[in-house]
Amino acid sequence: MMKVSYIADFLKEEFVGKEVEILGWIYRMRDMKDKVFFVIRDSTGIIQAVIRKDKVSERVWNDAVRMQIEGSLKIKGILRKDERAPSGYEIEVTDLEVVDYGQPFPLKGGESLETIQRYRYLWVRTRWFTSVLKIKHSLLKNLREWFIKDGWYEVHPPILVGNACEETTTLFEVNYFGDKAYLSQSAQLYLEALIYSLEKVFSLTPSFRAEKSRTRRHLHEYWHFEIEAAWMRLEDLIKVTEEALKYSIEKTIEERKSDFEILEKNTGRKIEELKGFVEKPWKVVKYEDGIKILQKKGLNIKYGDDLGADEERELAMEFDVPIFLTNYPRKVKAFYMYEAGDGTVKNFDLLAPEGYGEIIGGSEREWRYEVLESKIKEWGLDKLKVKIGDEEINAYEWYLDLRKYGSVPHSGWGLGLERFTMWVCKLEHVRDTLPFPRLREGWLYP
Ligand code: 4AD
Ligand code: MG
Repeated sequence: MMKVSYIADFLKEEFVGKEVEILGWIYRMRDMKDKVFFVIRDSTGIIQAVIRKDKVSERVWNDAVRMQIEGSLKIKGILRKDERAPSGYEIEVTDLEVVDYGQPFPLKGGESLETIQRYRYLWVRTRWFTSVLKIKHSLLKNLREWFIKDGWYEVHPPILVGNACEETTTLFEVNYFGDKAYLSQSAQLYLEALIYSLEKVFSLTPSFRAEKSRTRRHLHEYWHFEIEAAWMRLEDLIKVTEEALKYSIEKTIEERKSDFEILEKNTGRKIEELKGFVEKPWKVVKYEDGIKILQKKGLNIKYGDDLGADEERELAMEFDVPIFLTNYPRKVKAFYMYEAGDGTVKNFDLLAPEGYGEIIGGSEREWRYEVLESKIKEWGLDKLKVKIGDEEINAYEWYLDLRKYGSVPHSGWGLGLERFTMWVCKLEHVRDTLPFPRLREGWLYP
């Protein structure tokens, strides 16, 4: 049984009056005395089908009334225009072939979070969630497209790693044949090794964070889109970021109109809002000035403090476009960021508007051997050792070595694909950008 045509293919004037055949699932149904209405769905859309008792064989009628919601079937019939039908067309069924009658479906809508979690493997069929997955697919595809067109290479760094990229407190430990290994938090350090040959690289990998925090934007496993480029400084990195993200959003709007329509009913996201973010120039704000804005708003924060989710939300609320918050104090950011010399680093966090906060973290990298060596010591990372044969060496030696053989200025960032999708779709919680999110308390099932 190979499927050759999809519902969306038939929702066209040219098929009216013709015989069509559809493979799909029952999305809704209404059972009347002498007719049954099905709304059938497949991956491309929905279409109404009507089965009239006096127009079909007894077998077809008996099968139709036995079908359950989510049952699977093949129908044949004549396509008609019908203004009252959900997609404007209706199929007058002539034949029906049951694939699986289905059993009473455990989800009817309006269930508690616990029930949705328990039946996540069925809940993933939800119509608006399907639209989120399609939008996420487009956002990623279009990001990739921008970088490939601009001459970047996609590369494939490892997930099992021997040293930390971000805080050592959020590492997941793995037993690697008796040695300690970790699940990667970021591909960055490996991407840095690859810019000496490929110059501009990007990768998409799962990243893992054993974060203590339980918030609406933290996952323990997420998809990380990361870029790294030789010769690039912060100003150029910001330009690339704005161009690439605007391209991705703009093209996704074009490709996913009907998905945004479905989504609007659930999350309130309007295409017009997204167009607004894409049409205006994005803002660059120094951390220092960000702190002043927050203090003026009455928040209890001082220069030198890191920004939490609440502070990011308050700050982002002041702007109607995403902002690049730059030049953080060196102490609140990672060891690898380039020292500007005034106590700050050359970095940015991209904060999404409407309270979403950080979706990208990026920086120029410290490319001077002596400065990086002393920072590794200052951060206490020189104590982390790995064994190679009988030798025990510092886990960051290879990373430091990269500064010995033709070191060049370079920059990069990491974008959380789920954070990006969450903002574009205006979702309440980041878990609904993934079919099987990894959170605590039972979220390993299924
Ligand atoms: O800011 P982060 O920790 O930066 C890095 O990992 C850099 N090494 C990336 C780089 O420069 N190549 O993480 C980058 C992004 C964040 O801005 C956020 O979007 C996402 O990864 N992220 C998470 N997303 C979901 N759940 C979490 N627990 C996340 N932690 C980070
Ligand atoms: Mg960050």
